[in-house]
Amino acid sequence: MTSRFLTGITTSGTPHLGNYVGAIRPAIAASRRGDAEGFFFLADYHALIKSDDPARIARSRLEIAATWLACGLDPGRVTFYRQSDIPEIPELTWMLTCVTAKGLLNRAHAYKAAVDQNTAKGDDPDAAITAGLYMYPVLMSADILIFNATHVPVGRDQLQHVEMTRDVGQRFNHIYGKAWRAAGGDGDPFVLPEAVIEESVATLPGLDGRKMSKSYDNTVPLFEGGTKALREAVARIVTDSREPGEPKDPDSSSLSAIFRAFAGDDESATFRHALEAGLGWGDAKQKLVERIEAEIAPMRERYDALMARPDDIEDALREGAEKARAIAAPRLEIMRRAVGLGALAAPVGWARAGKKAGKRARIVSFRDGEGFRFRLVGADGEELLLSHPFADPRGAGQASRALSAEDAERSLAPLDATRFVFMHEGSALAGSAEFTELAARDAAIERTRAALVSLRDTAA
Ligand code: TRP
Repeated sequence: MTSRFLTGITTSGTPHLGNYVGAIRPAIAASRRGDAEGFFFLADYHALIKSDDPARIARSRLEIAATWLACGLDPGRVTFYRQSDIPEIPELTWMLTCVTAKGLLNRAHAYKAAVDQNTAKGDDPDAAITAGLYMYPVLMSADILIFNATHVPVGRDQLQHVEMTRDVGQRFNHIYGKAWRAAGGDGDPFVLPEAVIEESVATLPGLDGRKMSKSYDNTVPLFEGGTKALREAVARIVTDSREPGEPKDPDSSSLSAIFRAFAGDDESATFRHALEAGLGWGDAKQKLVERIEAEIAPMRERYDALMARPDDIEDALREGAEKARAIAAPRLEIMRRAVGLGALAAPVGWARAGKKAGKRARIVSFRDGEGFRFRLVGADGEELLLSHPFADPRGAGQASRALSAEDAERSLAPLDATRFVFMHEGSALAGSAEFTELAARDAAIERTRAALVSLRDTAA
């Protein structure tokens, strides 16, 4: 199985240099190596938990999307989308909510920290805590599980959430695994993901030497405000009061560490030596600005161009959502059936799959003006496949037996279009290319496959 890396970025702020060095740059580099699939999304539902300021959320979504694209994320290589464009995510969130132990959520660090703060202040433990904050880990589980991500690159603070995702996924697998397979799903409903904590990517220190973070108000903006804002932020980096000409300890300020994040070994060593030899802090800051600019100025140009054309970003995100939903929608369709929420006429629940359990998928043979044909009809009566005409009933019979024997095994592979007309929402679609395209986007193939599996099981 190819690895699938998935990560979300909460859209409640403006990207800073720390985000770039710690998350954006390594993620984009990884996505270019091409040995794994990349899923990157704007976690804008999560942003609603952090902020109720619509303008801020809207602005942040635009800035973050433009930043990732400007930094070189290639939406042709990865799946880049917005969480709120994938209705399957909140839908799955509910299903997962119903198998998640409340006690598990009680133990979430973010929730516990909020409770502790309230308690310390003598407030009601749950004062000002929304159910959104409480449910945060379940929404995050849905983000990850819906796509069967195998790896989730996150900061250390998010590790617990990935562990909870495994718990929740495992629980769902345990409860609904059989029903999932009976409904046509492969293996288990969910792959249990691993967190990837990049220890080697040092967290960038901020102006005051603590980790660069919006909550410490010590950040250097990445693109917003242009070179001027960058220069002003760098000017505020805390240093000691040694004069030019006096030897300096390169580690007495975050200047060297930030420089290091943008320079190779030799260049960084030269920078440190220069400080030790008496380079003035002002000149060092000037060098730092130049070094950062060398890397990000071309990106900032792209960023500004993108920010001026939000429609283009919108298009890229919509395309990404389409790609993402091609995976999410068919999976959710099976999940709905697995939990008992499929069509009324199609009870697929495994517990009731006894002999007289109602209708099954079946092959219906018939003859028309062109010859002998058969169609595959789903348990709910939906026509799924129509064979091409055969000259005699034997040919049709053989083909229909082969259908249940072989094709059920080929998970998502398109069926042979020379033998079948694929039915889709009432229209007959011939031609495998067209079908593959549609199938990728649609639940039709999943329904067809589910019918084939049940056909084969009946024959066996
Ligand atoms: N909670 C993550 C953060 O604040 C963002 C996020 C939301 C995420 N959904 C995710 C990260 C799924 C990885 C996978 O950083």
